[in-house]
Amino acid sequence: MSLQLSPSDHSTLRHLAIMFALLAGTGVILIIIGTFVWASRAKPTDPLQQQRAGARVTPVSAVYAGSAGKAALAAAAPAAAPKPPAASAAASSGPYSYAADKGKSMFDSTCAACHQTTGEGVAGAFPPLKGNPAVGDANPKAQIETILNGRHGTVIAGKTYSGVMPPFGSQLTDVQVADIANYERSSWGNHAKPVTPADVAAVRSGK
Ligand code: HEC
Repeated sequence: MSLQLSPSDHSTLRHLAIMFALLAGTGVILIIIGTFVWASRAKPTDPLQQQRAGARVTPVSAVYAGSAGKAALAAAAPAAAPKPPAASAAASSGPYSYAADKGKSMFDSTCAACHQTTGEGVAGAFPPLKGNPAVGDANPKAQIETILNGRHGTVIAGKTYSGVMPPFGSQLTDVQVADIANYERSSWGNHAKPVTPADVAAVRSGK
């Protein structure tokens, strides 16, 4: 049996073909619009803000864009991100100042599962950070080292803990570590000397 198409079949096929062409065309236009919207979104130019926004982390959109999407992103990026003049970048950066809201939200999302939002920890498992000697020390080295590299088996204020503190050095920028450390240093009755991102960088580089 051979396939016979009546004139009405032909016109149905033509309609289908036109509908597919329209759908495909709409898809391409949406991709182009999406690329422009992505490319023209506001980007923080201040290095401090970029670090707070987690500049180390690859944007999710870049991870899931697929190879064609990545090519489009790469092509769009240079036009969308004109380099600010060096002088204005330096001026907008300014000195570090502790952002308490960022410190609290990072602590609550990253550390409180073990140390609790009250900073009181869990007896026998996770040490309290309220009144913790490393957090209260004017020299922040032990506190920063713990956050960057993790810790286990230390005697803390005469007690040992069964839990393991995981390392966070690869997830957090120097500014984020400083914000978290300063949140610990100024919460739950703690009053310790603030740390700076430079302190964190020094511990990272082994000084
Ligand atoms: C999975 C549980 C867990 C998480 C999450 C966690 N910690 Fe810990 N932390 C511990 C344990 C357990 C110890 C005790 C380590 C030891 O026994 O040596 C500890 C110890 C510490 C100490 C005390 C170090 C000392 O020498 O007294 C500090 C400060 C600290 N953590 C800060 C943080 C910060 C900041 C975060 C979030 C970025 C965090 N922790 C996330 C479990 C955790």
